[in-house]
Amino acid sequence: MPSHPPSLLRILIAGSVDDGKSTLVGRLLHDTRAVYDDQLESVRRVSSNGLELAFLTDGLRAEREQGITIDVAYRYFSTRKRRFILADAPGHEQYTRNMATGASHSELALILADARKGVLLQTRRHAYVCALLGIKYVVLAVNKMDLVGFDETVFSRIKHEFEEFARALGFSEIRAVPVSALEGDNVVEPSARMPWFRNCCLLERLENLKIVAPVEQPLRLPVQVVLRAEQDFRGYAGQIASGQLNAGDDVLILPARVSARISSLLRPDSATPQASAPLAVSVTLDRPVDLGRGDMLVDPQQPPSTARVFRASVVWMSQSPLVAQRPYLIRHTTRQVCAIVSRVENVIDLDRLASTPSDKIEFNGIGTVTVETHQPLYCEPYTVNRSTGAFIFIDPTTNQTIGAGMISEVLDSGAEIHTPAIATSGGLTIWFTGLSGAGKTTIAQAIYEKLWAKGLKVEILDGDVVRRQLSKDLGFSKEDRDENIRRLGFIAQLLNRNGVIVLVSAISPYRAIREEVRSAVPNFLEVYVNAPLEICEHRDPKGHYRKARSGEIAHFTGVTDPYEPPLIPEVECRTDLESLSDSVALVMKAIEQRLNNNST
Ligand code: ADX
Repeated sequence: MPSHPPSLLRILIAGSVDDGKSTLVGRLLHDTRAVYDDQLESVRRVSSNGLELAFLTDGLRAEREQGITIDVAYRYFSTRKRRFILADAPGHEQYTRNMATGASHSELALILADARKGVLLQTRRHAYVCALLGIKYVVLAVNKMDLVGFDETVFSRIKHEFEEFARALGFSEIRAVPVSALEGDNVVEPSARMPWFRNCCLLERLENLKIVAPVEQPLRLPVQVVLRAEQDFRGYAGQIASGQLNAGDDVLILPARVSARISSLLRPDSATPQASAPLAVSVTLDRPVDLGRGDMLVDPQQPPSTARVFRASVVWMSQSPLVAQRPYLIRHTTRQVCAIVSRVENVIDLDRLASTPSDKIEFNGIGTVTVETHQPLYCEPYTVNRSTGAFIFIDPTTNQTIGAGMISEVLDSGAEIHTPAIATSGGLTIWFTGLSGAGKTTIAQAIYEKLWAKGLKVEILDGDVVRRQLSKDLGFSKEDRDENIRRLGFIAQLLNRNGVIVLVSAISPYRAIREEVRSAVPNFLEVYVNAPLEICEHRDPKGHYRKARSGEIAHFTGVTDPYEPPLIPEVECRTDLESLSDSVALVMKAIEQRLNNNST
């Protein structure tokens, strides 16, 4: 099997609060001379007792004050044999979440145990999370050997206990090394005080470890941003999540399911014929495709699943437990979607490594759940792909990361979504009108997430989507547009009748037909999404204005067709002057007022 050149090793270091992790990191950095003299000097100044290595590591003042490490810090050091990136994850219980972040990029886990305390619950949790996140290599550093008289039996007992526990976790290799980070034994130099330990010391182990390269994976390139430098230039930028990409390759674009060929590949400084994960690239395609953030370029022979229902292992990081049917947001590659957990299956008892049935996962717990998302994800099991198989849970109200998930099985791509059952009594239609490119869809999407997070039933009718589905027969003459708006109004009315809030996003350029809908729908809010024509034309997200100017599209609103702005809209959003969150706040305020009035 192929193996990496021994160039770079990514290490995750994890340990409990008092295991001496910061001291060990400081020792590695210091003894490999990765620390500058001025840093040493400033540490010497704050150390009460000579040079306290932990201060080298805990660079953040808050950490010094609290005596704990609070975020993942990446530290770089190298020896003649190898370069290292060390993800320093916090040891305190409350911060398991950061550990999961660090672990997802690492190849080796360096797990610390205090020789006096042995294998703690937290040590087990760290090992379990590392295994879940696909780390295959583990070094257990049994630290503070100086405090147990460098006793071989203590080391052997801890080593044995850890190996017994970790055997079931499927690591390729587990090594244990007895060290004293404080005094430097067996970290960078072999220790004369533990002659009974005849294996290599910690650094040598890290230098010599051979990582078996992951098997070639199919291409996954989630689009992060669309770049438009000149009139005709459309680049799609993102980080290659897996696989490789060559100029001239055919790719499949999701969700459009259209094929295109890569015309060119650009790195930040130059064009390149080829790039592979995890590089960030931008690509141009041989044909115009409507592509946006969250879409994915994939290998046409081996596309991922398009799925809304999957089973996942979850590490929960919020004080309020994970429960079924509550709205969450899920971030997966570059997409964010609304989701619920439809079923909590079990939680893992880390002492016995057994699962017990449960209907919730408490803070720091690990368990198995079934997730249902509103929009499909382009995903696959974590064991197949560490990027498209992983996601995080976000609290829709605080925007905080509250859990990490690894997809274990894709269950279904077409199952019904159980929308939370709190409905408004009479429904409400929020009608977003404005020029193409003014920002109607963007604001409507954001409002959708907010309402949905409140547990309300909500639906979007978007002009582009409706024209692909319901109004396929219509063009853009005044009669056809009026007919399109009438249809939208009719559906909104039906949905409102069932208590659903409807967000309509359509240019709807003619005032009279908008007023007709207003009088047909019981509860109507008109939102004028306003930006000057020049700005919309400059944004030109779909390239339509350019085509309208060159005569390729006729009857284009604002160019060759009129737009009649509302006279007294309930809300006006000036998307050229205010931020998205400003606009969203304005609309939300109007909605809340309306809903409150209704319920009183
Ligand atoms: S409306 O006028 O009937 O309300 P609607 O919002 O459904 O329009 O559809 C507008 C979308 O159709 C635009 O976002 C654009 O993608 C596409 N489109 C194609 N041709 C035209 C055109 N001549 N004028 C406006 N939009 C067009």
